Amino acid sequence: RRLLSQRTQRTLAIVKPDGVANLGHILNAITLHGLKVTQARMVRLTRAEAETFYAEHAARTFFPKLVEYMTSGPVVALELLGRDAVARWRQMMGPTDSEAARRDVPDSIRAQYGTDKTLNAVHGSDGAEAAAREIPFFFPAERDAPRPRGSVELCG
Ligand code: PPS
Repeated sequence: RRLLSQRTQRTLAIVKPDGVANLGHILNAITLHGLKVTQARMVRLTRAEAETFYAEHAARTFFPKLVEYMTSGPVVALELLGRDAVARWRQMMGPTDSEAARRDVPDSIRAQYGTDKTLNAVHGSDGAEAAAREIPFFFPAERDAPRPRGSVELCG
């Protein structure tokens, strides 16, 4: 029992603006691959939130395009739980570039539901450390923890 639970892991998935139309298919694939959705939230990111989330790419030429795209419509953040969840979800997603994915991993999510390097349907934490940073970004652990800026205070 201990051995089985040892590698149980959490990861953050984002269904990007172009993936939301296929949310049902993506959730179904997640379930079929043995991962559990333990938290979910639909949110329209502000520019500041997207810049913070993707801060590690701030120096890249594609950064402004990435931020503009990720704020162009609602996204759905998912916390996934399962054995080797980080690697499993990355494998399900396929290569970053949906065109390459269609060539190389045609049954991957990016191959099926994405378009190119920008409109690529989904995001996944690239390691356990990234997951530990990215999950609380969308799902603050405590009820009163600071929310990402721009989110609505419904009470109190
Ligand atoms: S790298 O070099 O491995 O760090 O980059 P990569 O993992 O391929 O991409 C990181 C995220 O940036 C997005 N990306 C782009 N956006 C817009 N235009 C271009 N050309 C581009 N190239 C990469 C890519 O979709 C990745 O987003 P996430 O959400 O992390 O999957």
